[in-house]
Amino acid sequence: MSPHATLRHLLALNALDRATLERLIDRAAALRPKALDGDPSWRPLAGRTMANLFFEPSTRTRTSFQLAAARLGAEVVNFDMATSSARKGETIADTLRTLEAMGVSLFAVRHAVDGAVAALVADCAPSTRLINAGDGRSHHPTQGLLDMLTIRQHKGTDFSRLKVAMLGDIRHSRVARSDLHALRALGAGEIAMAAPPALLPEADSAAGCRLHALADDAVRDADVVICLRLQRERMEEGLVDSLEGFYRDWGLGPQRLALARRDAIVMHPGPMNRGVEIADAVADGPQSVIREQVSNGVAVRMAVLEMLAGS
Ligand code: NCD
Repeated sequence: MSPHATLRHLLALNALDRATLERLIDRAAALRPKALDGDPSWRPLAGRTMANLFFEPSTRTRTSFQLAAARLGAEVVNFDMATSSARKGETIADTLRTLEAMGVSLFAVRHAVDGAVAALVADCAPSTRLINAGDGRSHHPTQGLLDMLTIRQHKGTDFSRLKVAMLGDIRHSRVARSDLHALRALGAGEIAMAAPPALLPEADSAAGCRLHALADDAVRDADVVICLRLQRERMEEGLVDSLEGFYRDWGLGPQRLALARRDAIVMHPGPMNRGVEIADAVADGPQSVIREQVSNGVAVRMAVLEMLAGS
């Protein structure tokens, strides 16, 4: 995609080149003040309506899409799975068309099935814009963008000097996949990974990354440590022996973090399993930027909605 191309849908980050990624991250950085405080006199998306179509649970992503749309002056519909006709067997495509018929043109969609959001492109009206808010273990593009914005705020724009370590359940994590696309596109110097063998990513996702048998080796001298949630809803039984063992071998506690650079930042997309992939003292400690990730989520989603709505 050329630097000035406009996106119609945001389904995955691997479709975006470096210039487009940087343009979105720059715009999100510029929107941060409006994302946090709002500006009632600025309503570039007035008259537009966004629906949150979440077929999986969410706290951060759904709320931040809602706030992002509201802070751009759009109206927001929060589709409530528990009381909707999806419970009566209505398909996701019929649900989309029903909302389109009511004038909804922007959709943030989360689904447990890989590729479910991309599959909707064939069913939607030409004026509809889709944003993948997480599909199965495949993609979570807005999380990837907000993670890159967070890294950039602390480490600057030159990612080639950075060692980024990823710990935990990488195999089942759509966040990991989107982060990896973005980190590679932005030229990250070294990407190190450590996880129990059953939770390491497939070879194609791990291309160009260093896989370590010991978490300590992945974390050593890292500038950024990304902890990932143990995705128990996406794994077969028995991939992890015990939660205590997982924390000991792969979790991020103060001792392991001390191996990273002194100014290393610690990230986690949330929701956290405290004491499983991350210790309280680290999650709430001075190197944690986990709350900043959440704040950046609103700005990033504003930038994405603005770009898609304008295309
Ligand atoms: C992530 C998700 O749903 O993929 N959460 C999020 O969007 N911040 C990560 C997770 O569920 O572990």
